Amino acid sequence: RWPEAVQIKEVGPRDGLQNETTRVATADKTHWINMLSESGLKEIEYSSFVHPKWVPALSDAHDVGKAIHRNPNIRYSALVPNIKGLELALETGIDGAAVFMSASETHNRKNINKSIDQTFPVFQEVVQDAKQAGKHVTGYVSTVFDCPYEGRITPEQVVRLSDQLFEFGVDDVSLGDTIGTAVPSQVENLLDVMLARYPQKNIIMHFHDTRGMAIANIMTSLEYGITRLDSSIGGLGGCPYAPGAAGNVATNDVLYLLHGLGIDTGVNEHKLREAALYIQNKLGKTLPSKTLASAVSP
Ligand code: HMG
Ligand code: MG
Repeated sequence: RWPEAVQIKEVGPRDGLQNETTRVATADKTHWINMLSESGLKEIEYSSFVHPKWVPALSDAHDVGKAIHRNPNIRYSALVPNIKGLELALETGIDGAAVFMSASETHNRKNINKSIDQTFPVFQEVVQDAKQAGKHVTGYVSTVFDCPYEGRITPEQVVRLSDQLFEFGVDDVSLGDTIGTAVPSQVENLLDVMLARYPQKNIIMHFHDTRGMAIANIMTSLEYGITRLDSSIGGLGGCPYAPGAAGNVATNDVLYLLHGLGIDTGVNEHKLREAALYIQNKLGKTLPSKTLASAVSP
């Protein structure tokens, strides 16, 4: 009924921290990412090479990228919105680059200051250069279900962007429920269309847990054979340009579900818990993960 193995991309250091008002010192971020590197994760999105005024919390992307210990079995990736971001990321060191745009015209403008049609030629060049540099490239499509400004988004709008991104040469597309409004029937409607066009292995699901629906949506995704998920340790996160967006689904909760179902992830829950407690302590607030909050596992 569901896949035997699932690969998780840990996006906490990027999606998690980008919306936090409490600044985490570069040395602490580095230590934390090194802890994550010890947990068995295969991919860590460690920061964003975006304008520091737009996302101040990640303005130390270069220093973090230079300082972390690189485990050769892990893909260390970062967001790059344009050629300038890609150049900085390549200089710092990345295995994977991720471009990001939104199926909603308004959210795209608010997030990256361009219309959808103005974004395409920029990404065409970024994807081409990143591929030429031998990097894995992911294309994020945001607001795939609902947009805080435009309301309901159709699968056709998502397909339009995904087709372009795959044509430019991205290896995979990550579908973002940016404001965490979707319910499983919306996931079914989108995956019915997407999986008729693209192989499951090239589709990643990226759920935010604003309304507590993320685990239900993941369950539906698994039933569709999806094997790749984005999640954030402890449930940190949000999008600074999407009002009301809360954290990503917590990696700890996703692991609890997957391992309970007998699905292999290669990730050590105990080590991930330690890393979640570390960042929780640095932020000085309780993170939303329910699994993290329950002291004892059966
Ligand atoms: P802009 O102002 O239109 O950029 O911003 P510009 O090209 O006009 O350049 C203006 C200035 O910015 C110039 O400097 C550039 O050099 C500089 P000046 O000449 O004035 O001194 N600049 C840069 N500096 C550093 N790094 C760069 C860079 N690019 C230009 N890469 C831009 C356009 C895209 C840069 C801006 O809008 C931006 O940084 N946006 C980032 C927004 C963001 O990070 N949002 C959150 C991530 S997306 C997300 O969370 C959703 C996701 O999780 C999936 C989901 O949940 O759905 C992925
Ligand atoms: Mg996100």
